[in-house]
Amino acid sequence: MAQSHEIVEKNIGLMIVLTLLAVSFGGLVEIVPLFFLDETTEPVDGLKPYTAVELEGRDIYIREGCYVCHTQMIRPFRAETERYGHYSVAGEHVWEHPFLWGSKRTGPDLARVGGRYSDDWHRVHLINPRDVVPESNMPGFPWLVDAVLTGDDTGKKMSALRAVGVPYTDEDIAGAKAAVKGTTEIDALIAYLQALGTSVKFKR
Ligand code: HEC
Repeated sequence: MAQSHEIVEKNIGLMIVLTLLAVSFGGLVEIVPLFFLDETTEPVDGLKPYTAVELEGRDIYIREGCYVCHTQMIRPFRAETERYGHYSVAGEHVWEHPFLWGSKRTGPDLARVGGRYSDDWHRVHLINPRDVVPESNMPGFPWLVDAVLTGDDTGKKMSALRAVGVPYTDEDIAGAKAAVKGTTEIDALIAYLQALGTSVKFKR
């Protein structure tokens, strides 16, 4: 045994091959079961796909890089659940393409920010955060007030999402343009923020 170990230690090529084997096997053992667990692949009860307007708001959230400073992933620790609410579960995110979990918190987690503030609060905050939170270092996004959505692509975005499993109906897709047309970007973004974390009722 000791001898075979010595062989591996002294032969860097063999060591690399065996290391790769061990890491690949370990990775597969961790990852593969997740594809077959209902808990990670099935939507939680009550989950609703984003409406046409919320979906456009989500795209603005991505375009403006909000995810660079904000996570949408509450970890299962007391310090987090006391502040943000029930920890995030995989089944809440099965219709998110791409996921917006984020990895860095310059600002607070937003996974359950829906309903925490009024639409008016969000409007003032997004235009100039310091008007409501004097010590804030979040940038303002005043141009969202004047930008108006056409809704031209919303139906196509919903069809694409349907192709990967989001349960949009033909009516949702047909009505998307009419629902979105004329909405300002700030209103769409606020609609999205107000929807975050609200479709599932968790006990705190
Ligand atoms: C440079 C980092 C940064 C960026 C980019 C950023 N934020 Fe923030 N955000 C913060 C910080 C810091 C706070 C905490 C202070 C405050 O409330 O303004 C915050 C707070 C918030 C809050 C209040 C959350 C709460 O629970 O009190 C919301 C909502 C929010 N941001 C939304 C957004 C949206 C939407 C965008 C993109 C349009 C965005 N943020 C971009 C840093 C950022």
